[in-house]
Amino acid sequence: MKKLTLAIALLVTPALAQAWPWSKDMSEQISVKPQESVDPAHPGMENYPEHSEPVPGTTVFVKDRDAAEKMKNPVVADQKSLEFGGRLFGIYCTPCHGYAGKGDGLVGKKLILQPFDLTAEHARSISDGYIFGMMTFGGAIMPSYANDLSPTERWNVVNYVRHVLQQGAKVYSDVNGR
Ligand code: HEC
Repeated sequence: MKKLTLAIALLVTPALAQAWPWSKDMSEQISVKPQESVDPAHPGMENYPEHSEPVPGTTVFVKDRDAAEKMKNPVVADQKSLEFGGRLFGIYCTPCHGYAGKGDGLVGKKLILQPFDLTAEHARSISDGYIFGMMTFGGAIMPSYANDLSPTERWNVVNYVRHVLQQGAKVYSDVNGR
């Protein structure tokens, strides 16, 4: 019985630490990859030339949640941002946090740790960067949305949470029905 428990524990561990090995099978096959070439005379994408530097303003690298917490929100919370953020919130966040952000989404009800109420006292006191970091890195249960939402999209969602859900700002066309 002990052995069986150990075997199950070992099986489950990689799921927590990293993806299952076969979850990448679709991408790791012999097909030609984007920007790759099969013609040696015309190779695909070359290595970056020496001394190349990233173009500012396109990608945001942030080390961890502590670093994210101190970040300043670069996106102005105007109508356009709130509308866009609302659309993304409706797609990515409502399943767990609910349309009003109260943590009462249908999927959230099934989790061991209930999604937090984004309109509660605690959520009002956290910084914009903290909300950004939560989306970037995820929490104990909450998944990371770094692959689904670009940094700019994440800041628009931050604006929606802060201004519409927490402070009741009006959005002319809010798909979440507010
Ligand atoms: C699969 C369910 C799920 C989804 C989808 C989800 N969350 Fe969460 N969220 C949680 C849970 C559970 C917590 C509690 C903390 C944890 O997981 O560590 C949480 C916590 C948070 C917190 C911390 C609040 C506080 O008071 O500390 C923020 C901010 C947050 N979520 C924002 C979002 C945003 C924005 C989205 C959409 C991009 C989102 N969440 C999508 C489950 C979810």
